[in-house]
Amino acid sequence: MDPTKAATTVAAEDAAQTRRDSLTIIDNRTGKRYEIPIQHGTIRAMDLRQIKVDEADFGLMSYDPAFTNTASCKSRITYIDGEKGILRYRGYPIEELAERSTYLETAYLLIHGELPTKAQLDDWTYHITHHTFIHESIKKFLDGFHYDAHPMGMLVSTVAALSTFYEDAKDIFNPESRRKQTYRLIGKMPTLAAFSYRHSIGMPYVYPDNDLSYTGNFLNMLFKTTELKYKPNPALERALDVLFILHADHEQNCSANAMRSVGSSHVDPYSATAAATAALYGPLHGGANEAVLRMLEDIGSVNNVPAYIKRVKGGEKRLMGFGHRIYKNYDPRARIIKEIAYQVFDVMGRNPLLDIALEVERIALEDEYFVTRKLYPNVDFYTGLIYQSMGFPTTMFPVLFAIPRTSGWIAQWEEMLLDPEQKIARPRQVYLGYDQRSYIPIEHRGG
Ligand code: SDX
Repeated sequence: MDPTKAATTVAAEDAAQTRRDSLTIIDNRTGKRYEIPIQHGTIRAMDLRQIKVDEADFGLMSYDPAFTNTASCKSRITYIDGEKGILRYRGYPIEELAERSTYLETAYLLIHGELPTKAQLDDWTYHITHHTFIHESIKKFLDGFHYDAHPMGMLVSTVAALSTFYEDAKDIFNPESRRKQTYRLIGKMPTLAAFSYRHSIGMPYVYPDNDLSYTGNFLNMLFKTTELKYKPNPALERALDVLFILHADHEQNCSANAMRSVGSSHVDPYSATAAATAALYGPLHGGANEAVLRMLEDIGSVNNVPAYIKRVKGGEKRLMGFGHRIYKNYDPRARIIKEIAYQVFDVMGRNPLLDIALEVERIALEDEYFVTRKLYPNVDFYTGLIYQSMGFPTTMFPVLFAIPRTSGWIAQWEEMLLDPEQKIARPRQVYLGYDQRSYIPIEHRGG
């Protein structure tokens, strides 16, 4: 073949090659070339295993602590664009759902994938409403906690305890069983949360009132005293419902990852939800709303904000409620929550800590340290101010995150179970420890 023609052919082939969705990798240790397919903007980590220096070589792995650049699953539930500040549940923008939907309707959407018809929503609401009671024995667990036990610790424990009451929950590949556990989990989380709160303030438990809405009944179980029938304030009932919509799911966050990872062992959904609740408890995750309030109380006044910001920039403190692994723009939920705050303050009175929060936000959004690190207010920055104004103690704030997130966790769990590509989660490691060495009798150790 004419050498110029051959060269042209190779050039054309190479051009075609680069157009194909693939990576061409040359291993400089061996000079070998590999073509790795690209799909959905990713390569399969297992495709790296063929890259070896010799047949005895295990092959290449990817190393990604905290999964900062690793997709653990394919999902159709929630879409986030961190640069553009976009959040959609099953394709619906969070702003539209917050304005026009309800939490139970949104929970249905997340779990079933479509907005319900009226009949479907009525059926869904009926079943969840009729699963709000908990077994009387659960009260014995709650009574066993100290009066000042953190309600998240109580919630983690009692959600796990639910697994001991529903043996049918282990039948995880039976859709009917999953549906019943779904009703129970969404229905009972508010009851467990409210009972934990009532225990912590030494008040009697208030049983569910099936005449009330999901959030109305939750407020009833929290705040009812001597009145025969609790009447929730409609503005607070709606504000809480919108907050629950905003907190319902957030793709592969730490607690969703816990739900999927623990659920991948095929344990029952109550035990998996307890693990997810425990993950959410952490101050870097759902516990941040509690940490924000403590931070604002620590700051104490608007005048003290610059000094606190200085400590944050010095690495001494974190600005709780700021920053996000995905959002490198304003968290769209924080924008809506800020509006809700003013609606709640109209009813309950302005929270004095708001001025401090607004000053923190004003300075942080201008300061180069935060701007270069793309640190914006996240979902947790303003929620604590609202919950405090509604009468919740700070320790209840992460509980108010866990209740609505339960529907997201269930949606993620079910998607994982039904995904043929998924199996028990078992990451690899890079071993940097000792090579083989011999046991040393105790008399020969030390010194
Ligand atoms: C939630 O994942 C989700 O989707 C979670 C969530 C959901 O709905 O499920 O959105 C809910 O958990 C919201 C986040 C709530 N947590 C907080 O508000 C705690 C404060 N925020 C941070 O700790 C932090 O921003 C994280 C944990 C949220 C994200 O951490 P990353 O992505 O691991 O970022 P990083 O720790 O690597 O920080 C990058 C840089 C670092 O600076 P340098 O080392 O480069 O100099 O930014 C700095 C960090 O020090 N930084 C902060 C900061 N967050 C990051 N500096 C000061 N204050 C902060 N809040």
